Amino acid sequence: MKRWLIVGVGLLLLWPASLVQAAPPLQEGAGRAEPDNEFCLRCHSNPQLTTHFANGDVLPLHVDADTYESSVHGREDVQCVGCHADITGFPHPPLAASDRRDYQLDRYRSCQGCHPKQYEQTLDSMHARALAAGNEEAAICTDCHGAHDVRPPDAPRERISFTCAQCHAAIFDVYRNSVHGAALLEGNPDVPTCIDCHGVHSIADPTTVQARLRSPRICGDCHADAELMDKYGISTDVFDTYLADFHGSTVQIIEKVSPDQASNKAVCYDCHGVHDIRPADDPQSQVMKGNLLKTCRKCHPDATSDFPNAWMSHYRASPDQYSLKWAVDWFYRLLIPGLVGFFVAFVALDVGRRTLNRWRRGGEA
Ligand code: HEC
Ligand code: HEC
Ligand code: HEC
Ligand code: HEC
Ligand code: HEC
Ligand code: HEC
Ligand code: HEC
Ligand code: HEC
Ligand code: HEC
Repeated sequence: MKRWLIVGVGLLLLWPASLVQAAPPLQEGAGRAEPDNEFCLRCHSNPQLTTHFANGDVLPLHVDADTYESSVHGREDVQCVGCHADITGFPHPPLAASDRRDYQLDRYRSCQGCHPKQYEQTLDSMHARALAAGNEEAAICTDCHGAHDVRPPDAPRERISFTCAQCHAAIFDVYRNSVHGAALLEGNPDVPTCIDCHGVHSIADPTTVQARLRSPRICGDCHADAELMDKYGISTDVFDTYLADFHGSTVQIIEKVSPDQASNKAVCYDCHGVHDIRPADDPQSQVMKGNLLKTCRKCHPDATSDFPNAWMSHYRASPDQYSLKWAVDWFYRLLIPGLVGFFVAFVALDVGRRTLNRWRRGGEA
């Protein structure tokens, strides 16, 4: 019996798939508790094995055993049927999908079984919304991770941005020339990849009012981190000074008090750009001296050439920078405690004097 089976399978391997479909049902694997990978690969390691969708498109059925075995799943000994739970033997249930994309959109749901957290997170993402709206190009698990060749998605770290680049090529091309992207591609682990700003599985709409108001905190996560920024000689004052000035303080208040209210006050990316952030002294930087007025004019259309000078940028007032403001600050810093101290002393002396007088008068009586 066993010998016949082997001969039968051998014959099947030689036959074109179309003939296999027409062949009489061979209840192979049916008696087993769960067919193992070796069983599946007996047929699917054949590079010639293919089938057709209803529309005539070919679906290659070859699965490379080595590729699978070196994937995260192969290494963890995940079985083919861990994902292909509907296939219990041969013949398989008929192919329901109408074309390749339809097939992928159906199959990727099998990831849910072992990765329910990631699956749930994707349900409300921008990609899921685009998909629901009929855009079949929106990313599903297998577009970003693959199916049989899943590898650690963040090793090396720049792999993450290449994953997004498959479909967001125009943005990636801008990003790769930015201060962050250029550093990432040189192996710098400290700069943001796409997902540090957007998230991964639960990518939200980055253009909402809430996202705008929250955005300075994303930059602040790194740019207010003194240890990190010291490595690059970049000032961490940028975050504090932003929050202290008229743009940032309002954005911060709005975020706390009425997070849905639109704000036209500048956030970091209005001045620095989004995917094209450059070093502040780069000729293409939007905040470089020569380009700064144009940047301010986006919102202050009547600004004249000395307008940017009326603003302290990210600088704290010091004897060298904005010395007048520095002097005024210190004047008040000294004057107010001085005045308060003077009055406290005055009142204390007065009270002391009165108490002493009363006590003396009491002694005389
Ligand atoms: C005897 C040979 C043979 C064995 C063993 C076999 N397959 Fe197949 N498989 C085929 C052929 C032929 C097709 C083409 C479509 C069809 O006939 O159903 C196919 C199609 C498929 C497809 C694509 C169509 C679909 O239904 O999604 C998948 C996935 C698949 N096989 C997975 C498996 C898995 C998993 C195993 C092990 C449990 C397995 N196969 C065992 C021959 C085999
Ligand atoms: C981690 C889940 C997972 C595992 C494990 C897995 N598959 Fe698949 N397989 C898929 C998905 C998802 C598809 C749908 C095609 C796609 O998205 O590229 C697929 C498609 C297929 C196809 C159709 C042809 C193709 O490549 O699209 C065959 C045949 C197949 N798998 C066989 C196997 C065999 C044999 C094994 C075990 C060696 C296996 N699969 C293990 C998820 C898996
Ligand atoms: C039968 C269970 C099972 C299914 C179904 C499954 N996986 Fe996995 N997956 C695992 C196991 C086990 C690991 C390795 C341990 C871990 O990192 O969680 C893993 C690891 C991963 C990793 C790597 C995680 C890391 O930190 O490097 C990714 C990515 C991944 N799976 C994606 C998928 C995708 C995409 C699908 C659907 C096509 C899928 N998995 C279906 C069991 C499964
Ligand atoms: C838009 C691309 C994209 C899609 C869609 C996507 N992933 Fe991921 N996934 C990634 C990236 C990038 C990482 C690495 C995250 C990191 O390093 O923080 C990742 C990480 C993971 C991990 C490792 C653990 C973790 O959460 O960091 C698993 C498991 C995983 N994904 C499974 C899935 C599953 C299952 C789906 C579908 C429900 C899915 N992914 C959809 C890009 C994607
Ligand atoms: C398989 C293709 C594909 C991949 C891979 C992909 N995306 Fe997308 N993404 C899309 C499509 C399609 C849309 C919907 C576009 C639209 O509606 O204009 C979209 C939408 C988005 C949006 C919302 C756009 C908007 O206009 O509001 C963001 C943000 C986004 N993707 C980020 C990412 C990130 C980050 C990654 C990598 C982790 C990634 N995408 C990977 C195809 C992809
Ligand atoms: C430093 C943070 C940051 C990084 C890194 C980043 N983004 Fe964005 N992205 C944003 C912000 C903020 C917006 C919203 C801009 C707006 O409202 O004009 C945005 C908007 C988007 C949009 C939708 C609007 C558009 O321009 O089409 C997509 C898609 C997108 N990003 C994808 C990506 C991809 C892909 C990468 C990696 C190559 C990436 N982003 C890297 C912060 C970032
Ligand atoms: C994950 C951490 C991280 C996040 C998030 C981040 N940055 Fe950066 N940024 C860096 C690092 C690290 C450098 C230095 C890179 C280098 O010089 O190689 C840098 C460099 C810069 C520079 C160039 C400074 C100079 O003149 O040399 C600017 C401007 C900048 N970032 C603005 C922003 C803005 C605006 C945001 C938010 C939209 C942001 N960054 C988000 C880590 C981050
Ligand atoms: C109103 C416009 C504006 C806003 C808003 C703004 N910046 Fe700047 N930023 C500038 C200008 C102008 C410079 C150049 C200062 C100089 O070198 O004279 C600069 C410089 C920088 C530098 C380089 C500092 C250095 O040490 O080289 C970083 C980093 C930076 N900004 C990050 C941020 C972050 C993070 C935010 C939000 C929290 C932000 N900026 C908000 C205009 C702005
Ligand atoms: C995204 C829009 C936007 C950008 C870009 C922007 N600002 Fe503003 N700025 C505002 C808004 C809104 C106010 C509040 C105006 C009001 O309250 O009437 C404001 C207020 C100010 C004020 C307070 C005085 C006044 O006119 O009310 C100064 C000074 C100022 N901005 C300087 C700058 C400078 C310098 C730049 C360029 C480096 C700049 N702004 C870029 C939106 C912006």
